[in-house]
Amino acid sequence: MPRPRIDVAIRPLAPEDVEHVKWALYEAVAWNPERVLLPPFELTIEHPELARYHRGWGRTGDIGVIAESGGVVVGVALCRLFTEDDHRHGFVDERTPERAVAVAEDRRANGIGTRLMEALAESARAAGFSSLSLSVDAENPALRLYERLGYRELTRDDDGVRMIIDL
Ligand SMILES: CC(C)(COP(=O)(O)OP(=O)(O)OC[C@H]1O[C@@H](n2cnc3c(N)ncnc32)[C@H](O)[C@@H]1OP(=O)(O)O)[C@@H](O)C(=O)NCCC(=O)NCCS
Repeated sequence: MPRPRIDVAIRPLAPEDVEHVKWALYEAVAWNPERVLLPPFELTIEHPELARYHRGWGRTGDIGVIAESGGVVVGVALCRLFTEDDHRHGFVDERTPERAVAVAEDRRANGIGTRLMEALAESARAAGFSSLSLSVDAENPALRLYERLGYRELTRDDDGVRMIIDL
């Protein structure tokens, strides 16, 4: 069945868009509503494990793109650099930003995630980066999408699948 067409404009994330960064991070963690029972948004997003992805947003290496439809935010893709001393599962090295993405639940499967990740890759390339990494749960259907976009698997363990793409 052909996908419905949605008019979407994609623009760079600005430092003042940090609330949308937080929304995307929360959606990414809560990707499986049948399995994950998370504390309320405000508690989850300020937990140190997740806060390291948005705190002080706008620092060197922070890159993001935002999709809007009719003035409403419908998706966000972002990446951030981490260090050997401060990172989570998706970390590869200090030159490779780790990427996150989310699309509003009622807008998924319309190609918005694909467009966001292509736009993010383009922005990261333009900023001088040569790769992006990510971590995804092995059961998340997003894994198929990442493979289609050219990400390749690096490691697989109880914490998920770590992937990388060359830009
Ligand atoms: C993953 C995600 C960003 C993809 O965005 P999207 O706009 O739905 O993606 P596209 O329309 O470009 O591509 C559709 C593909 O996305 C994947 N996908 C993952 N979760 C999906 C969902 N809930 N609904 C539809 N597609 C989903 C599938 O691979 C699908 O392709 P398929 O035909 O092989 O099933 C979006 O589904 C989402 O926000 N999911 C919840 C948050 C999440 O899992 N984030 C990533 C954590 S690593």
